Amino acid sequence: MRRFITADEVRKAAREASGGEKAFIYAEKEDVVTDEARDMARTLGVVISSEITRRPCICANFKMNGGPGFMDKYAAELASCLAQFYPEYAAETDVIVAPPAPLVPVALALSNKKAIYSVAGQNCYIKESGAFTGEVSPYLLRECGADYVIIGHSERRKLFAETDALVAQKLKIAIDAGLTPIMCLGENIDDRKTAKTFAVIAQMLTALYSIPIEYSKKVILAYEPVWAIGTGMNASSEQIAEVCAFIRKNIMVKLGVDFSNAIRILYGGSVNETNALEIAVIKGIDGALVGGASLKAVNFAKIIAAFKTDARSN
Ligand code: PGA
Repeated sequence: MRRFITADEVRKAAREASGGEKAFIYAEKEDVVTDEARDMARTLGVVISSEITRRPCICANFKMNGGPGFMDKYAAELASCLAQFYPEYAAETDVIVAPPAPLVPVALALSNKKAIYSVAGQNCYIKESGAFTGEVSPYLLRECGADYVIIGHSERRKLFAETDALVAQKLKIAIDAGLTPIMCLGENIDDRKTAKTFAVIAQMLTALYSIPIEYSKKVILAYEPVWAIGTGMNASSEQIAEVCAFIRKNIMVKLGVDFSNAIRILYGGSVNETNALEIAVIKGIDGALVGGASLKAVNFAKIIAAFKTDARSN
């Protein structure tokens, strides 16, 4: 929905900016900035973001599920559901499927027939090749047809002790290999209960800042509150909008307003065909990373359709 940005809002942003931090107001493309607000912003040194359109990106994360037979049926069903619900999806959105690594070439071969989706790896290692039993090279993922790779998913951080430093290394080599990383970040329930959400997110964003800026520009972020993953408890629109605004502001301070406007931020955590539209209309959210609900092609197609340009601007 269109929002009017007024001089009052600019004054408020200036008052709330703390400790030498630049005040920032995030404006979406359809928002209207009044002339008074622009003048006030100039006087008080408040940055109002320029207005750009970011292309929605919806990624299915199969996790450790599915096999060749499943993939075969899935691709056919997704193609037919998308043709039915959202025939123009390819022109407007990036649709990605992240199957388990051995299925990357299979998923790509199936997609190639109809160009249904791009393929992502769910993880990669920090080396091109060598004695790293069980790991997957980002270069091999690329060679097998992946265009994207999920990095720093909370399951990897928790179960495989991945640190922000490792995430940064993975971002860098993934980009060197020609992949676009989808970097996950999000607080756990204790962080939220103890009001540490922003501190945790800021810490996780250091991975984005510790690689060269021309690399950071290639990254897509996925805000995934850990407590919302696989629990059926998706975060509220207010919670998602608040963290998304925090992320953009943190990035604006570190990498500038244009960067902060351009980066895509997806939401993940119990997204399904019922709540997808509610999530798609949240300011600053550019797509979804979908686990459980993506395993049914019909539901994933409905989630993709929620990101239709028309549906989101109404
Ligand atoms: P979920 O998983 O949709 O099953 O909550 C999301 C994710 O882990 O990326």
